[in-house]
Amino acid sequence: MADDWGAALALDQRSLGGFWSDTLWRGELGRPGALAFGHDDGGRLLSIACGWVVVDELHITVLATDPDWRRRGLGRAVLQALAAAAVPRGCTRATLEVASGNGPALALYASAGFRTAGRRRGYYTNGDDALIQWRSLQGAGDGLCPPAL
Ligand SMILES: CC(C)(COP(=O)(O)OP(=O)(O)OC[C@H]1O[C@@H](n2cnc3c(N)ncnc32)[C@H](O)[C@@H]1OP(=O)(O)O)[C@@H](O)C(=O)NCCC(=O)NCCS
Repeated sequence: MADDWGAALALDQRSLGGFWSDTLWRGELGRPGALAFGHDDGGRLLSIACGWVVVDELHITVLATDPDWRRRGLGRAVLQALAAAAVPRGCTRATLEVASGNGPALALYASAGFRTAGRRRGYYTNGDDALIQWRSLQGAGDGLCPPAL
């Protein structure tokens, strides 16, 4: 995945409006402890999930699906792959931050078992709060993803 920063950047621009620069994507995908999973159609990256292994926690940094490919299960699939890869690396729980107004992401994370444990009020420029969410990865067994994901 370390060579795919260009594809990740293009998807980021289509899906997230440029969350990270090319320099940040290059650094992210080459960073020790970073995990990234993507789904492509043979030429174009359609969905991506990235995270960092921090001791026994998976810190999910990016989840995005191409706007033309949403509601086809790709976001859930790459999130599942990320969580499954984190378990054999010693992660027992996963965390992420999501904007309080991001309905699609909140619905996906809720269906994947994430629960809000903290809130940064007015964190985003549009006034949305940042919700800090967690879920356990224990019970996954053999690197398999928890059933709820
Ligand atoms: C959030 C995002 C990654 C979801 O990707 P996706 O590939 O469309 O998600 P999936 O198709 O795997 O959806 C899985 C489940 O999430 C929920 N969900 C996803 N999008 C939804 C929507 N627009 N409305 C309601 N529920 C939604 C549903 O429960 C869905 O299951 P279902 O389709 O069987 O009902 C995508 O909307 C996206 O890229 N958004 C912009 C970037 C972003 O906000 N990323 C998250 C930052 S924290």
